[in-house]
This record gives sequence, C-alpha cells and structure tokens, in this order.
Amino acid sequence: MQILRTPDSVRVAARRLVHPLGFVPTMGALHEGHAALVRRARSENPSVVCSLFVNALQFAPGEDFERYPRPFDRDMEMLEALGVDLLYAPEHATMYPQGFATRVDVGPLALIFDGVVRPGHFVGTATVVLKLLNAIEPSVLYLGQKDAQQVAVLRRMIADLDVPISIVVHPIVRESDGLALSSRNVYLSPELRAAAPSLYNALCESRDLLRAGIPVAQALARGRGHIANSLEVEYFALVDPDTFDVLELVRPNSLLIAVVRAGRTRLLDNLPIFGAEGGDAEFSATGAKFAESGGFR
Ligand code: PAJ
Repeated sequence: MQILRTPDSVRVAARRLVHPLGFVPTMGALHEGHAALVRRARSENPSVVCSLFVNALQFAPGEDFERYPRPFDRDMEMLEALGVDLLYAPEHATMYPQGFATRVDVGPLALIFDGVVRPGHFVGTATVVLKLLNAIEPSVLYLGQKDAQQVAVLRRMIADLDVPISIVVHPIVRESDGLALSSRNVYLSPELRAAAPSLYNALCESRDLLRAGIPVAQALARGRGHIANSLEVEYFALVDPDTFDVLELVRPNSLLIAVVRAGRTRLLDNLPIFGAEGGDAEFSATGAKFAESGGFR
C-alpha cells in the first residue's frame, strides 16, 4: 500500500492504477463499518483508494476534534490487510494552507437535523470530500448509510456540481446487540454502552408499527418510548432520504432517523421502513407491493 500526503502526488499515483477506482473516504479510528466499505470497494473495482484525514472544517466549535481517536498505525495495518492500493493521508496544513477560503455550500439540506446541532458540519464535509475527489479522481465513491444525511448532502453536491463519479451506499454495520458501529462508541461509559442499543430497538419498533399501518405520529411516539432514560433524544423522525423533509405519511423510500445524546457522545442511527438495512439495495418485496398499492391513504 502506497501512502501519499499531497494532492498532486496522490493524483499521479491514482492515475497509474487500473480503473475503475473505488474510493473510501474516512477519518480513521477504523472499525468493521469502514472495513465493510473497503471490502465492498475491493470486490467491485480493480483498484481501491482510501483517505484518512480528520477534517477540522467539519467539527463545530466545542466538538471533539482534539480528542477524536487517531490510532494511525493500527489503521494503516488494517487498510494494508484489506488490500487497499493507495492511502491518501494529508496533513491539515496541506489541505487548508494559509489563505484557504472556499466552501462548498449545499443549501438548505445542510441546515436541518444534524446541520442545526452541528453548524458548519455539512459545509465542511462537502468541502473536504470535493477536495478529496479532485485529488484522487475516483470512479466510484463508497459511503455508509450510517451517516444518511451526509449521503444526501454528497449526492446533492455531486449532482449539482457535475462531479463525474457514481455513489455506492453500504448498509449500516452493527454490533450483535444492534448498536451501529462508530469511532465514537469508545467514548461510552459501560452504563451508557449498555443503554445504547435501545436506540436501534426504538427504531425497529417504530418501523414495525409503520409497516403495520399505525399513523406516523403514534408510531414515532411509541417507538421513541423504548429509548433508555439515560439517553437524551435530539430527534426521532420520519423523512425523505434525499431532501430530509419530514413526512407525515409513509412512502416506499421513507427513512426513520434518530440521534440521542449519551453523555457527551451523540449516537446516530437510521432505519428504512422497507428494505433490509438501507444502503442502496432494492426495496424489499413488501416495499414494492406498498408502492404499487399507492401507499397508506
Ligand atoms: P467516518 O466517520 O470515518 O466514516 C467514513 C465512512 O464510513 C462514512 O461513509 C461512514 O458513513 C461510514 N461508516 C461509519 N460507520 C459505519 C457503520 N457502522 N456502518 C457502515 N458504514 C459506516 O464520514 C466521515 O468519516 C467523514 O465525514 C468523511 C466522509 C470521511 C469526510 O471527512
């Protein structure tokens, strides 16, 4: 695995690889969720590039930028073992030198849900991802369904700015008790770690109620009731996965999204009403039938 530190050197190295080129951007502290994206990219492309960059621009003031875990050697070993061809790991000063001023503003989608609690987060994310895409020039971008709003933001940016790339979204990888894997789960105390799976249970409960035809407000309230008292709900909603508009009626592609606070740590999760576990897999037979019948009226 080659490791490169500047946009010009990574572009030269990436152009030499056999195309199509799969690309998995990460902030490191890698876990099985990241590994699943890399394996998927590996199986679908002759060459795979990863990036590892803790992007200061996407952390809101007071967030965990300084204490974000950075086990660089372990991450490198993991990517090497997964068969990554090229790792792009730039320094902060290389990405954002003196005088850097441009931002990618993706509009209203960046200002709702996570964008409210994390001002500047999605602008920072869109900006860094466009820089990474310009440096690496990959064919396919691999993203996790775990960060559903990030997926919507990056889809918007790629469509609006005519970025010549396709997107593959991989389903959420979970612990056996349902908790979505996250680099931030290491922050959880044993008590909060024990309470954390109640978020997924709550989403499953709401999904099942919605599938059974229970009205949205009631299904959300009843599901939400399963969240442990030690977790503070930031939002728990049914949305359109592209616009994040709040839905009052179920549609075939409706997505349940939720964030809870577990102490200082935010836990994100989401669950489609139809289809197995999200990602861009086809809707399940139930979802297709539901669409044909015109949905609940
Ligand atoms: P990071 O949090 O490191 O995540 C990198 C990728 O892994 C993202 O696409 C994320 O959705 C995916 N991922 C994380 N946990 C996952 C899980 N449990 N199951 C499936 N996929 C999972 O997301 C970022 O970094 C940054 O915002 C980045 C896109 C790299 C830009 O800085």
